[in-house]
Amino acid sequence: MTELRAASHILGTGFYVPPKVVTNDDLAKMFDTNDEWIQQRTGIKERRYSDASDPPATMATKAARMAIADAGLQVEDIDGIILGTLSPDYTFPGSAVIVQRNLGLEGIASMDVRNQCTGLLYSLATADAWVRMGLAKNILVIGTEVHSTGIDFSDAGRDVTVLFGDGASCLVVGPTPDPSKGLMSHKLHADGRGMEALWLPYPSSAHFPHRAPLSMYEDKSVYPQMEGRKVFKFACKKLPEVIGEVLQATGKTLDDIDVLVPHQANMRINEMVAKMLKFPPEKVVHNIQKYGNTTAASVGIALHEARMDGRIEEGSTVMLAAFGSGFTWAASLVQF
Ligand code: ACO
Repeated sequence: MTELRAASHILGTGFYVPPKVVTNDDLAKMFDTNDEWIQQRTGIKERRYSDASDPPATMATKAARMAIADAGLQVEDIDGIILGTLSPDYTFPGSAVIVQRNLGLEGIASMDVRNQCTGLLYSLATADAWVRMGLAKNILVIGTEVHSTGIDFSDAGRDVTVLFGDGASCLVVGPTPDPSKGLMSHKLHADGRGMEALWLPYPSSAHFPHRAPLSMYEDKSVYPQMEGRKVFKFACKKLPEVIGEVLQATGKTLDDIDVLVPHQANMRINEMVAKMLKFPPEKVVHNIQKYGNTTAASVGIALHEARMDGRIEEGSTVMLAAFGSGFTWAASLVQF
């Protein structure tokens, strides 16, 4: 195998979650659910909900400022923004340009990535490619989501609503001085045959004559819809597969991995993946208990917390992995 050489590295990380904590008991006051059901099925204890002062791009900007400071850079050093979200501030333009405006970085390349829970990993791989191509040097890779204004707080939506929380994360990706450290390999996948298993059908540009009919409120197609068991099974199959592909590409084995940072969709999925891989559960990062599923933001928040509490340090070999709507799935190996 030819020696792998990294071109870029994660130079800094940051995150932001809004201050409002919503517990399982709080949800149980709104619709028919209970703390025991939610914790047993998902591991979630509480999540954060945003408000008008913290729309997606504002949270993303706060996470970005933290990540830039963590990287030891100035805002002016940033020359690219790639932002993953399924809940952009507006249908158009994308939220990346709003972050750009908030940071006063007029003119730099900025784009949104629509890949749901794998949005951060698709964005990370794209940033790595931009660095390799010389398109940009220091890039903000962002995941940001506001779910709380788009979910169904009635019994009909309870399977989905209990899962989601709001928040943002940011990684600063830039050139690595040492090619043995940094982003070593990525694998990205999608299978559109699974799109209806986890989707938000309306408003829809595929719907005629009007993309936002009033019926979308009556039939609840304005809320996310999920075949929970199908999603669960597909995730448990595809996550071990894609982790295996990245290991093969990098010539590593599971024994070389110090920390696995998976997407925080459901703690039971991540426990099952570790079991199937025979990977030590204590090396898997979980923070879904505190934040729920923040989709594109979740891997970045978990990575940041694992760096800050010392689980990830200089020398750590870290696997990032995510799975989500599309279906899409991805993994990246990072040598710290
Ligand atoms: N509270 C109480 N009861 C509930 C709730 C709730 N919040 N939600 C569903 N139930 C009930 C159901 O109505 C059903 O009742 P019934 O037996 O009387 O019909 C019962 O609980 C079991 O429902 P299931 O859907 O079969 O429950 P399951 O064990 O499959 O767990 C869950 C549901 C937690 C959603 C699980 O399927 C799951 O985690 N799937 C994967 C979800 C996921 O990871 N999604 C990723 C989203 S991220 C993205 O990409 C956007």
